[in-house]
This record gives sequence, C-alpha cells and structure tokens, in this order.
Amino acid sequence: MDRHHQAIIGYLNELIEYYQSIHLSSSRQKALSILPKLHQYADIHLKSEEALLAQVGFSNLESHTKIHDQYKDLVISFYQQEMDVEKLHSLIKGLRTWWDDHILKQDMAYRPFVEGVDLEPNLMPLTLNEEDNRENEVDEELMEIFRDSTVANKDKLTAALSDKDWSEVRATAHTIKGSAASFGFPELSNVAARLQSVLDKEQVGQASELTMNLLLEMDKVLR
Ligand SMILES: [Fe+2]
Ligand SMILES: [Fe+2]
Repeated sequence: MDRHHQAIIGYLNELIEYYQSIHLSSSRQKALSILPKLHQYADIHLKSEEALLAQVGFSNLESHTKIHDQYKDLVISFYQQEMDVEKLHSLIKGLRTWWDDHILKQDMAYRPFVEGVDLEPNLMPLTLNEEDNRENEVDEELMEIFRDSTVANKDKLTAALSDKDWSEVRATAHTIKGSAASFGFPELSNVAARLQSVLDKEQVGQASELTMNLLLEMDKVLR
C-alpha cells in the first residue's frame, strides 16, 4: 500500500507543478493528461486497499470504504460539471487535500492491522505501465473527445441559428467557452464568451454575426 501511496503522491506532485500556471494552455494540457492516470491508479488502489482490509478483518472497514466512496462521488461531481479553468484548478486542489489527509490520517489507522501481511497475489494490482507513448496517447484521446464535441456543438449551433433559438445558441456558446478554455483554445473561448454575454444582455441584434464568427472559429480548430 505504501508503494501505491507513493505513486499517487507522484501523480499529485506532477499535477501541482501545473497548478499555479493552469491559465496557460500548455499547463492545462499537461494537467488534463495526468488526471486520467491518477484516476485510474486511484481506482486500483482503493479497490485493493479495501480487499486487503477485508482480508485482515479491519474493524472499521465499513466506514473506511464509505470514505473511499465519498471520494469517488467527489471526483465524479467535478466531471459532471463543465471542466473550465476554475473547475480544473479546484479539482487539483481538492485532490491534493483529500489524498494528503487520507493517506496521513485515515490510512494510518489500519496500519497495525496490516503490518507484515501480504496482499494475496491475485489482489495485487498491476502497476500502471508508464511508457512514454502513453502520455501522448492520452493527449490524443482527449483531443479526439474535444474535436468530436466541437463537431457536435457546431451542428447544434447551426441548427439553433437557423431556428433563431437564442437560448439554445447561448447554452451552446457557454459550453464551448468552457471546454475551449480547458483544452487550450483561448481565442475560441473568447469568441464564445462574447456571444454568450451579448445574449445575456439580450442584444439579439449582434447575435447572428457573432454566431457566424463562432462557427468560423470552430472550423479553425477542426482544421
Ligand atoms: Fe484508504
Ligand atoms: Fe490508501
């Protein structure tokens, strides 16, 4: 378990490196490529820790498992919202705080129970393979997701524009603003933000032109 905790802290340290400069797209890309690895590793760790604690008959297994479940809920709740720069910032901060606290306090409580006990070999999790190309794969995977959602948003926006459905245009612009910012396309994010703010002020007169601009800007990203 100590090795797991060290690996998790390693990922957190990497993430924290980009915390201060998260407004830069390069830092954001880096952070976005580390997060899936941390989540995957954390998943394996929490599961095997629970298996180990069950194996040794840890008396507070139930409440410890509940704390792990709360962690998973917390992470999911972040991803259910739009991952804009602020969300990413508070996600990293939240992860750091949670793991530091959990490893140093709650996990310390079971130490006497597991001293000298080995985890059954089949419960021993695989360590994540850290080949260099993995990181690029994750980057590419994320970019693929972003491109797909941009294509979908473009269709939505085009349809909403021709229907003059301004509330749909506004909602789509809002989504684009956030995702473009977190994927490192500040210009696209700005154009979407301008459109959204015009619609917030109900200045529908300028909305058509700004929507056209936004569609053009999205094309640039997809090129
Ligand atoms: Fe734990
Ligand atoms: Fe743990």
